Amino acid sequence: MDTRLQKRVQRYGWDKAATHYERSWKAQLDPAQTALLDMAELAPGQRVLDVACGTGLVALRAASLVAPGGEVAGTDISEEMVAIARETTRALEIDNVVFERMDAEELAFGDDTFTTVLCALGLMYLPDPERAIAEMHRVLRPDGLAVCAVWGERAKCGWSEIFPIVDARVRSEVCPLFFHLGTGEVLRHAFQVAGFGAITVRRLETWLHYDNAEEACGAAFIGGPVALACSRFSEQTMAEAQAEYLASLAPYRQGEGYDVPGEFVVVAGIK
Ligand SMILES: C[S@@+](CC[C@H](N)C(=O)[O-])C[C@H]1O[C@@H](n2cnc3c(N)ncnc32)[C@H](O)[C@@H]1O
Repeated sequence: MDTRLQKRVQRYGWDKAATHYERSWKAQLDPAQTALLDMAELAPGQRVLDVACGTGLVALRAASLVAPGGEVAGTDISEEMVAIARETTRALEIDNVVFERMDAEELAFGDDTFTTVLCALGLMYLPDPERAIAEMHRVLRPDGLAVCAVWGERAKCGWSEIFPIVDARVRSEVCPLFFHLGTGEVLRHAFQVAGFGAITVRRLETWLHYDNAEEACGAAFIGGPVALACSRFSEQTMAEAQAEYLASLAPYRQGEGYDVPGEFVVVAGIK
């Protein structure tokens, strides 16, 4: 898929997924987001950028960790994600965070701007994640810290069949590099190439719990990155795709629900 098309699929796909996102993914992503914030060791007064911030789950936690005196900027390619993040910020009356629509591969910030750059579960969706990591390095101050979390090895993520199942019905790859960065030392290597030092890597095993088949399908087909592709499915195509997906989850069935294994990789490095 060409780069511009992949970005459009992501941008408008996440626009469609935005209002379902927290219901589907907030609890499931919490272990990775918490590990990322632990590794970031944020402190009052710091200036933080959260790349591919989504609805602001990490940026808003970061905002309270850097207060007083610190500031957070959250950026995301999806307008709808940014709108929800802004609404939540207003509702919670948080005054040290701003959100802006921005491509992770072209950050509109000057060199040496931030003390910390975070990116939770965003790099897998980019056509050129190495370019985004180089951008993170550029906007960090010397001695600044970048921390990124991605999904881990394909074989450890029990829900991974969602991609071939959807791809087969749209005749393209929705997220061609999805499991690449979480494999072996790929993300550590990308940090090294971008110029980061003192790199640390954590792998976390996790479980995605779904109470029933509807919840499992909602998270995979509606609340995530394949939402745009699936919005064009006929009722019959959707039913077939969901049946195939549930068959792929059969080994993880627990009564009416599912406990699906997953893995996260979190990498930190200093400029
Ligand atoms: C799984 S969500 C993660 C959101 C948030 N970081 C969190 O932990 O909840 C992935 C996000 O990546 C964003 N994204 C995808 N491609 C992007 C790009 N090229 N630039 C910036 N954000 C992008 C999507 O819009 C989506 O909000």
